[in-house]
Amino acid sequence: MRTITSDRLLLRPWRDDDADFLLDLESRWEVVRFLGAHPTTMRTRADALASIARRRAVDHPIHGIWAITTAADGRLVGNLLLKPIPLSAGVSAAGPEDVEIGWHLHPDAWGHGYATEAAAAALDDAFSRGLARVIAVTDPDNHASQAVCRRLGMTHLGRTTRYYDGPNELFEKPRG
Ligand SMILES: CC(C)(COP(=O)(O)OP(=O)(O)OC[C@H]1O[C@@H](n2cnc3c(N)ncnc32)[C@H](O)[C@@H]1OP(=O)(O)O)[C@@H](O)C(=O)NCCC(=O)NCCS
Repeated sequence: MRTITSDRLLLRPWRDDDADFLLDLESRWEVVRFLGAHPTTMRTRADALASIARRRAVDHPIHGIWAITTAADGRLVGNLLLKPIPLSAGVSAAGPEDVEIGWHLHPDAWGHGYATEAAAAALDDAFSRGLARVIAVTDPDNHASQAVCRRLGMTHLGRTTRYYDGPNELFEKPRG
């Protein structure tokens, strides 16, 4: 998986020695509470290692799941993903698969513009490699994430139950 850079950040593949950080990140309810229809906190380092292996297994010219780190000192700040979005049960695929962008950052790293900067860099990179359109979904109550979508210039298309087995606000951005 390639690395992606921006002014302040380096997005790189997850490594096994990131397990303690990932466990710290995903064991926090404030980080996972809006992720999916049935959010759960991560419990063990073994779970973190298994999750890292799944993240690294994404092998695709455009999609990926990256660790977001600071460019200056390599400090881990969160996760950035770009991948096909799961459809809700009973929804049949129509047309090309929808690719979603998603982010979750450690609370220590909130409020610095890192999520928006990481996502903007990943989107520039993906659009330059041929991605035609990206979507993002957020829980209706996840105003912080909706603000990231707006900062990225994504268009709000309203509420949908098409993905992740629940109601979500849907945003999209076509390649410019
Ligand atoms: C969603 C989430 C990533 C948003 O993080 P965030 O730090 O608010 O978002 P950004 O990276 O865009 O940062 C914007 C904030 O940084 C501030 N900021 C500070 N320095 C900045 C800079 N140099 N450039 C841009 N913004 C800056 C902005 O003013 C803004 O603050 P505000 O929220 O007080 O208005 C974070 O809340 C999170 O990880 N939540 C849990 C996981 C989650 O729900 N993920 C989304 C699932 S859909």
